[in-house]
Amino acid sequence: MWSGRSLQNRTGGGNFMKEGGEALRVACFGAGYFARFHYEVWRSLPRVRLIGACDKDREKAEAIGVSAFDDLATMLKMTSPDVLDIITPPETHLEAIRATVAHGARAIICQKPFCSSLAEAREAADIAEAAGALLVVHENFRFQPWYRTIKQALDDGLIGDLLQVTFRLRTGDGQGPQAYLDRQPYFQKMPRLLVRETGVHWIDTFRYLLGEPEAVYADLRKLNPVIEGEDAAFFIFEYPNGVRALFDGNRLLDHAAEDCRTTLGEALVEGTGGTLSLSGDGSVRMRRFGSHEEKVLLAARNWKGFGGDCVKNLICHVVDGLIDGTPLENEARDYLKVIAIEEAIYESDRQGKKIREFERA
Ligand SMILES: NC(=O)c1ccc[n+]([C@@H]2O[C@H](COP(=O)([O-])OP(=O)(O)OC[C@H]3O[C@@H](n4cnc5c(N)ncnc54)[C@H](O)[C@@H]3O)[C@@H](O)[C@H]2O)c1
Repeated sequence: MWSGRSLQNRTGGGNFMKEGGEALRVACFGAGYFARFHYEVWRSLPRVRLIGACDKDREKAEAIGVSAFDDLATMLKMTSPDVLDIITPPETHLEAIRATVAHGARAIICQKPFCSSLAEAREAADIAEAAGALLVVHENFRFQPWYRTIKQALDDGLIGDLLQVTFRLRTGDGQGPQAYLDRQPYFQKMPRLLVRETGVHWIDTFRYLLGEPEAVYADLRKLNPVIEGEDAAFFIFEYPNGVRALFDGNRLLDHAAEDCRTTLGEALVEGTGGTLSLSGDGSVRMRRFGSHEEKVLLAARNWKGFGGDCVKNLICHVVDGLIDGTPLENEARDYLKVIAIEEAIYESDRQGKKIREFERA
């Protein structure tokens, strides 16, 4: 985490808000399925001007309704953005970051899975740092309002000494030969699916709630024969003092929710003094140990946008960091730890044993 002061030092340019309060100029790379949530947010922010959209499929870029490009180099040359938002698959990230930094952009936000490997992700972080550019990973789940509520409750000591956290991912979209084809068809071909593509959000969320794990154990399965990667996964994180976090993910099963994509599942956060529970409608309740009564800490509501509007929350967090100098989460250097843990999860499953030594991020 670093503050606006160090941002100013690193970029050597003072505050990002330009003379006369001119808006931050933002261009986006990628205009596929998930990009729509990004574009909606960028358009809605008063201190931002969306100046370009790029996709190798030019029609998709044109559908956004701003200057459209099918090649990143051309977009960078024609628009000179302050910020590039990368919403393309991992194999495009490193080169896009290299080109954008070389072009002098001051900040880049990049979707997860971040780059194709830990080595590539490290190189991307090095490139950005050497140029004094900010590089933030779009790891949005920690910005979901229910995790902010849970974190606050933990910090306030509402459930005594924390003993364990469980998240059950139950998206219900993984059965049969048509699994994922309507929304994210590339899921069927990913050699690593559940942990790399989706479970990674809880690697980061567990870090957000509990800090860095000391060891991981994982058991991964492929249940739907039509796909290449795993679609069910357990991973357990070990922390000091007997604290554990368990991710129990299964894309073939669902949970009780109007929309299984609001939270993607259910969580329990259990301490000596009580339990916090996250339901599929995004509500968080607290029950004191020994009691049957529940107190609502966060009520269910019709959240605008994806996953409790977490795309907006993340983007606003970065814009505030750039313009106001507020401290930033999710910088690429710190996020290398997430990728190192992800690799340890696959290694644990391969070896059938607990992994304590993560590759140094
Ligand atoms: N954080 C989240 O909650 C979340 C949710 C869904 C997807 N994602 C991530 O967002 C990224 C995009 O996912 P998606 O579902 O939108 O995928 P998608 O396949 O629908 O869209 C990707 C787009 O990138 C374009 N593209 C690929 N290579 C390109 C290149 N070299 N130059 C220009 N354009 C290129 C494709 O034409 C496509 O339109 C993935 O990394 C995915 O994991 C994140």
